[in-house]
Amino acid sequence: MTARRCGCTTRRDVARGHGASCTHNVGAGARNRAVVAGVATVVLLTAACGALPGSVTSVDAVTFDQELAIPPLAESEVVDGVRTFSLTAQEGTTSFAPATEPGTQTETWGFDGAHLGPTLRAERGERVAVDVANDLDEATSVHWHGMHLPPAMDGGPHQEIEPGGTWRPTWEVDQPAATLWYHPHPHGETEEHVYRGLAGMFILDDDATRAADLPSGYGVDDVPVIVQDKVFDDAGQLDLTDDGGEPGTLGGVVMANGTVGAYHEVTTERVRLRLLNGSTARTYTFGFPDRSFDLVASDGGLLEAPLELDQVRLAPGERAEIVVTMAAGETTRLASTETDLGSVAVPFAMGGDDAFDVLELRAADELTPSPEPAWEPSQHADGDALDAADATVTRTFELDERRINGERMDPGRIDEVATVGDTEIWEVRSTVPMPHSFHVHDVQFRVLSIDGGPPPEELAGRKDTVYLEPRRTYRLLMRFEDYTDGTVPYMYHCHMLRHEDEGMMGQFVVVEPGSDATPGPLQGAAGHATH
Ligand code: C2O
Ligand code: CU
Repeated sequence: MTARRCGCTTRRDVARGHGASCTHNVGAGARNRAVVAGVATVVLLTAACGALPGSVTSVDAVTFDQELAIPPLAESEVVDGVRTFSLTAQEGTTSFAPATEPGTQTETWGFDGAHLGPTLRAERGERVAVDVANDLDEATSVHWHGMHLPPAMDGGPHQEIEPGGTWRPTWEVDQPAATLWYHPHPHGETEEHVYRGLAGMFILDDDATRAADLPSGYGVDDVPVIVQDKVFDDAGQLDLTDDGGEPGTLGGVVMANGTVGAYHEVTTERVRLRLLNGSTARTYTFGFPDRSFDLVASDGGLLEAPLELDQVRLAPGERAEIVVTMAAGETTRLASTETDLGSVAVPFAMGGDDAFDVLELRAADELTPSPEPAWEPSQHADGDALDAADATVTRTFELDERRINGERMDPGRIDEVATVGDTEIWEVRSTVPMPHSFHVHDVQFRVLSIDGGPPPEELAGRKDTVYLEPRRTYRLLMRFEDYTDGTVPYMYHCHMLRHEDEGMMGQFVVVEPGSDATPGPLQGAAGHATH
């Protein structure tokens, strides 16, 4: 990390030539407007800055002097036993200083505000409803990523909300406590809607997790950290042009909850970070230069026990709850180091060589004691466990550049039909040397094996999204418990959102046993027309 600082604060400084006199390594390789051009820039900058080959990063170094924004907790009202939220998708402007010139207002989209959205929070067993309004000039949708709920409430491309329209999904929270999130899912437009700022967290609570002695003061020692990367044009506006990068756009500005160069004041001995990779394309490897941390939960909730790690890789869509221990007066930084993407072609063009800091943690001179996180595994896992011996169906999914099993997404076609009550194994494989992040709606799955071997421990918990290293077979175990509907499908797709928008998505329905539903055209398929 230490060799990665310099006085240049923005990519534009480098472009203007300020980079020539610095000792820094801000390159443009991974941003890859073209790989060849990137190589040339990298070589030039490396020469100019005297940095070591291989230490190139395309992410700008910034000063960490902005207080981390904490998304507000969404208000809710319990009406007739239903916890009711409201969310409005709208346009606004946001300052991203120091990534943009002071005073610059960047046009963004947000829920109930200019950028990102409030944190929704509900309890296992509770019935919830969300009054969603669309104040944008185009159709959008709101998908509850990681939530187990009926397909008509899922917020995918079949539940789009027209401009000026509203939508009121309602469901019962019926899954363990977890860090979930919400974001638009309109057909072919998901990347742009998320990139403009439409995303938020949805935290679920339950008794088992409350008993686990985890830090739980929202925004104090239990902190949402939505990590996203952006590209700004010279006017300080979000650059929406397709840069042709294979994984999608990799931004040179990385932000946490929309704050560039963020710090958070820590007042307790332990702090829990709910990390969400809300980026459209970039995969991160999070850790600290000077300490390990405990991974306590993955996408779908608590692990069997806290797992001490030095780093955790998160692909787009994945979450990790980590607990970091600090001493009074200390400062450290959550960073993303070089990422092992598996055997991808040209790793640096996929962001694999990028290393940068994300969030500074500043411990106060006196810290309130925090208990050590601990829980009885059975308390959490009872009733939620999956057993591979129960699996009766195996399906295979082969991903290439933009297709799954040779097909691109067609909102009018059902690709897979699952029977309610069945436990299934999905064998998922990327057949090309490109990064993909595989996400399944409706369920939390377990990664049984990777190429026949046990998955790394950090993938042992409940998951809804998993990074696919190229040319390796991931066996995922899942059960379709309820919510049959022969006509409204759930999605499975790559969570690199440009891949998804370009067709790397399929649809499945869950039906009653003995139902004669067969894959094929869907009656009255909705979905916004592609342009
Ligand atoms: Cu996070 Cu189908 O999405
Ligand atoms: Cu992909």
